[in-house]
Amino acid sequence: MADPGPTPRAPREDLPTLRGPRVVLRPACEDDLDALWALTQEKELVRWWGAMDRHGLRLELFEDWSHYFVIEIGGELAGAIGFYEENDPGYRHAGLDLFLGPAYLGRGLGPESIRVLARYLIDERGHHRLVIDPSVENERAIHAYEKVGFRRVGVLRRYEKGSDGEWRDGLLMDLLADELVQE
Ligand SMILES: CC(C)(COP(=O)(O)OP(=O)(O)OC[C@H]1O[C@@H](n2cnc3c(N)ncnc32)[C@H](O)[C@@H]1OP(=O)(O)O)[C@@H](O)C(=O)NCCC(=O)NCCS
Repeated sequence: MADPGPTPRAPREDLPTLRGPRVVLRPACEDDLDALWALTQEKELVRWWGAMDRHGLRLELFEDWSHYFVIEIGGELAGAIGFYEENDPGYRHAGLDLFLGPAYLGRGLGPESIRVLARYLIDERGHHRLVIDPSVENERAIHAYEKVGFRRVGVLRRYEKGSDGEWRDGLLMDLLADELVQE
């Protein structure tokens, strides 16, 4: 029998809804899966997020170690942003990932979403360091993350498999709490 994946569940009790000037980040739930999956099938997202099947996206969104929010703009579902936490006290940090649908790209909404989530991770969850790891070729993402204060750490060689099935390099970027650039 096919693996049904993680148990469907309501939004996580421990995640609040977060708000920025234009974005609302609300905890993702099972009911969001179809709309988010449809966004990930758009060409621009397949290129950078990989050709994810529905089951793969479900795992990404709802695995116990991952915490995802839907990004809403003007009441519309525009994308998703998530984080994981390394809670070993000697290495504690959080990692982020996000995507926006094609209609929402290039309007500063990605950086705004990251700022809102970063503030929460720093102020409420006590993180001193955040990481993000775009493809080295994803210049738009790298530029967007630098605007928020992330710095380039180094190349992660053959780090992730692209939608063409080939391994490609990633760029590790990090941000320390006092480096977050607020607009
Ligand atoms: C990456 C992403 C989150 C960034 O969010 P965004 O809201 O589109 O970001 P911005 O509106 O700030 O635009 C990106 C910036 O990069 C610039 N840019 C665009 N294409 C670029 C390129 N090829 N090279 C360098 N800079 C580029 C834009 O001019 C803009 O900078 P500016 O504000 O100084 O003019 C969003 O584009 C996205 O979801 N992309 C598809 C999925 C993806 O790549 N996810 C990231 C996985 S790590």
